[in-house]
Amino acid sequence: MNILVTGGTGYIGSHTCIALIEAGYTVVIADNLCNSKIETVEKIKEITNKEVCFYQIDVSNKSELECIFINHQIDAIIHFAGLKAIEESVRMPMQYYRNNIISTLNLAEACQKYNVRRLVFSSSATVYGENEVPFMENMGLLPTTNPYGETKAMSERILADISKAVPALSISILRYFNPVGAHQSGLIGESPNSLPNNLMPYINRVAKGKMEKLYVFGNDYPTVDGTGVRDYIHVVDIAEGHLAALNNLTEGIHVYNLGTGRGTSVLELINAFEQVNNVKIPYEIVERRPGDIATCYADTSKAEKELGWIPKYDIIDMCRDSWRFEINNEL
Ligand code: NAD
Ligand code: WQD
Repeated sequence: MNILVTGGTGYIGSHTCIALIEAGYTVVIADNLCNSKIETVEKIKEITNKEVCFYQIDVSNKSELECIFINHQIDAIIHFAGLKAIEESVRMPMQYYRNNIISTLNLAEACQKYNVRRLVFSSSATVYGENEVPFMENMGLLPTTNPYGETKAMSERILADISKAVPALSISILRYFNPVGAHQSGLIGESPNSLPNNLMPYINRVAKGKMEKLYVFGNDYPTVDGTGVRDYIHVVDIAEGHLAALNNLTEGIHVYNLGTGRGTSVLELINAFEQVNNVKIPYEIVERRPGDIATCYADTSKAEKELGWIPKYDIIDMCRDSWRFEINNEL
């Protein structure tokens, strides 16, 4: 089966390509490299020892996208391509809405035109807003605090409407919690083209001496130690989640959380990283970051029951694999 992976040279997409190839699928990658590097294609080939077809195209450009469907019989699409930096989305809302929404619409239209019936979409726990934890798939979604989050919530609604109108489609929406870690080979990991936005890349930079200290955003939340609690999940587990979603696609639209169901505070993550990697992470407590919530973790029972997917890796694995990639690669 040929799987079109949009955003396939990105962080989660590249790990998913490996999982797909190892499971026997043929992968066609579409990525404009706005936040990833062409070398990742070679690394995927090196890890899997298989060929990968790569198109440097913009998924929001319909005619560029259609070339792929003309050249290949695509059986399913996994749609990762998107802009994802929250703070940037507040400054550049038009780019975020254009890129993320038009890409999703173009793919949905291509599904109709080229008779592709299977689609897996990258969503985010951010769509839950400030709900009660654990977050469950059937909860009413609350407004997010930024245009990025809105593009995910909107894309979900667009796909739900398309699913009603085209019942033969099988759509899986995966809401990731906080993906961290890297492939065990140390060859691929999170390698953005600009400054990182999330906690783990910052911890890595401090550990490497590229930053003097980590700024911890607030220690007065109602949590175990006052710092924010999140559901960190190993990127290889997320990749396996896509395989499970693809293998269990059924008609209609289905939403799944991809998290571990366990919360870890910022200080707990720093502590785990220091212990497993034997490095020091100096930090300073500063003001809360606007838009942050206190606690976020998943109810994972639906993915476990319906997809048979259970994450394998814990916080220690995530910190070890993340650091291995960092020291193997001059970023
Ligand atoms: P990433 O930036 O590493 O990967 C996204 C890839 O998409 C990049 O390679 C980028 O070059 C490409 N891209 C962006 N716009 C494109 C376009 N118009 N045409 C072609 N390629 C385009 O990000 P990631 O962390 O791998 O995230 C993948 C998806 O998962 C995104 O949709 C993101 O919003 C979503 N997500 C990520 C996280 C996270 O914390 N990493 C959490 C929840 C959801
Ligand atoms: C985690 C915790 C921060 C950096 C975001 C998106 C979410 C998803 C994942 C895309 C929080 C604290 C962080 C730092 C800190 N992405 N922190 N110092 O905000 O939970 O989730 O990325 O969809 O949608 O919202 O992730 O890694 O930025 O923060 O103290 O330098 O670390 O306050 O408690 P977040 P994060």
